Amino acid sequence: MDFTASLLLATFILSLFALFLYIWSMSKGMFGDSVNAAVTIFSKNEVGFVDDPAATLAQLKELQATVTGTTPLSDDLIQEDLRARAEADKSSSLVVGICLTLAVIWLLIASVAGLVSSVKLHSPDWLAQYSWLTFGRIRPIHLNLVAYGWCSLAGIGVSLWLVPRLLKTHLVGSKYAIAGGALWTVGVFLGALSIALGYSDGLEWLEFPWQIDILLVVGGGLVGLPLWMTLLRRKVDHLYVSVWYVAAGLLWFPVLFLIANVPYLHFGVEQATMNWWFGHNVLGLWFTPIGLASAYYLIPKILGKPIYSYNLSLLGFWSLAFFYSQVGGHHLIGGPVPTWLITMSIVQSVMMIIPVFAVTVNLHMTVLGNFKALVYSPTLRFIVLGTILYTAASVQGSLEALRSVNTVTHFTHFTVAHAHLGLYGFFSMVMFGAIYYIMPRVMNWEWPYPKLISLHFWLVLIGFLIYFIWLSIGGWLQGLAMLNPDMPFMQSVAVTLPYLEARSIGGALMTLGHFVFAFHFFAMGWKFGPKRLGASLIGGSMTNKIWSYFEGKNV
Ligand code: HEM
Ligand code: HEM
Repeated sequence: MDFTASLLLATFILSLFALFLYIWSMSKGMFGDSVNAAVTIFSKNEVGFVDDPAATLAQLKELQATVTGTTPLSDDLIQEDLRARAEADKSSSLVVGICLTLAVIWLLIASVAGLVSSVKLHSPDWLAQYSWLTFGRIRPIHLNLVAYGWCSLAGIGVSLWLVPRLLKTHLVGSKYAIAGGALWTVGVFLGALSIALGYSDGLEWLEFPWQIDILLVVGGGLVGLPLWMTLLRRKVDHLYVSVWYVAAGLLWFPVLFLIANVPYLHFGVEQATMNWWFGHNVLGLWFTPIGLASAYYLIPKILGKPIYSYNLSLLGFWSLAFFYSQVGGHHLIGGPVPTWLITMSIVQSVMMIIPVFAVTVNLHMTVLGNFKALVYSPTLRFIVLGTILYTAASVQGSLEALRSVNTVTHFTHFTVAHAHLGLYGFFSMVMFGAIYYIMPRVMNWEWPYPKLISLHFWLVLIGFLIYFIWLSIGGWLQGLAMLNPDMPFMQSVAVTLPYLEARSIGGALMTLGHFVFAFHFFAMGWKFGPKRLGASLIGGSMTNKIWSYFEGKNV
């Protein structure tokens, strides 16, 4: 066995050892009191109070009844804590507002690019006269804009909002994050423009020319800076699990992106290995931690109920950190890379079941018994759906990494369906929910047309289901056709046609949903709609208003 193989095997064994050591120390109570740790996100006496700034007061009342079965038990909240929370929100509102606005703009452009790519796969002559709209350019434009435009900027915005809240203090150094966000956005714009003009580094997820990547590395570093500065000023002893996830994500991204983009360093097979080391790490060590950090904070907050098992949440975080970094090799199954490397990535892909189940059991057990809350909380609906689809994407991914399954699914539309299950079904749904929760606090204004939130939800859910189900079936049939030596290759293409058309229908509904969402987002930005009762407000005013509402007083 050569040196590299021995080194990777040694890190794997060390990670296993670290995991056992971690479980042992946790069982000895070395990580402190998990009951108190789970309630650090609440103010005193706040457990039992629901909170959804996107809900109307009538919905809030019903939501409260689903959780406690009665009206709230006590209004004896610590007003000072709530005021501090309002101050924390205020300190991050500018940078969060900017990041989320940019994210929504990229979402629209990226969705249209996705739809155009989709139509081209069943009607290849459409718009073929424009070079920048050919599939080879518009498809990477879609991928890069969803990944670095929509998902990343939404994730950065949500993270920067979570940080001061979780650390119960002001966001320090937000100007660095604004500068970082600006550099990042210029980078995304120039990157997409270069792809449109035909300049690309030619590696999937890394298409932006390396000169432009520098903007994302510096921008990514700068947006993380306020987290570290705020940590130094924190007013909490315990770092809630969401802080671990956000901190890790903000640290991991610039490092991954820098290593993957260093020019003239990786060649040949090594370059392919590096490409997929990055390709999967950007999903598991950037988007996943931010999506989970949001869910771990927002689900308990909305339900007014601490997380089911705090120790399990830490186990989920550390096992992700220990085992994720080598799974990327499963993208190269059957490729010209050493067998041991692929086998190790498959083993680690299956081991991902540990962090996934830790998260799954924890989040779903927290919601268990309160499913009725989904009817009344617009935010919870998106987030719980997102976490269910996280479980689905991860379990599907572990199976897809097995050689026997990957032989069928690799190089087919099945992988694309899985990709959307993960980055859309899980991550984007959680981001939609988080934005619905956060924006009223950022703008101090309620969502002007609550029915549009439902319309958005149903459009994207139905669109996504059509997209995912039909493309999975089409992709599987395509894989079987490609493996059949009696079938000419063109038949494996023809078999997918009706499924590709169905994907365009699903994708069109999703895109429509995004336009509804964006319209509502900007309508709120311009403070459209009636000034309502203030479900969006925090501090004593909110709970007092709920109280008054329950008691039938005019508020
Ligand atoms: C245990 C967790 C997971 C495992 C083991 C896993 C495994 C896989 C495998 C085997 C592939 C197909 C590789 C190929 O044949 O080319 C894949 C593709 C993909 N997965 Fe996952 N997956 C997991 C979770 C996720 C999650 C949570 C997301 C989203 C946040 C995600 C997003 C994607 C994307 C975007 C692709 C397509 C990449 C590309 O070809 O450009 N996966 N995954
Ligand atoms: C926020 C929303 C979206 C996200 C996060 C997203 C994510 C992705 C990702 C990660 C890929 C790469 C898949 C792979 O290589 O395996 C991809 C490709 C693609 N997406 Fe999306 N997508 C979104 C919306 C849409 C929409 C609305 C459509 C419209 C139909 C669409 C159509 C496509 C197409 C056609 C491809 C190329 C598939 C191929 O190369 O065969 N996407 N998307």
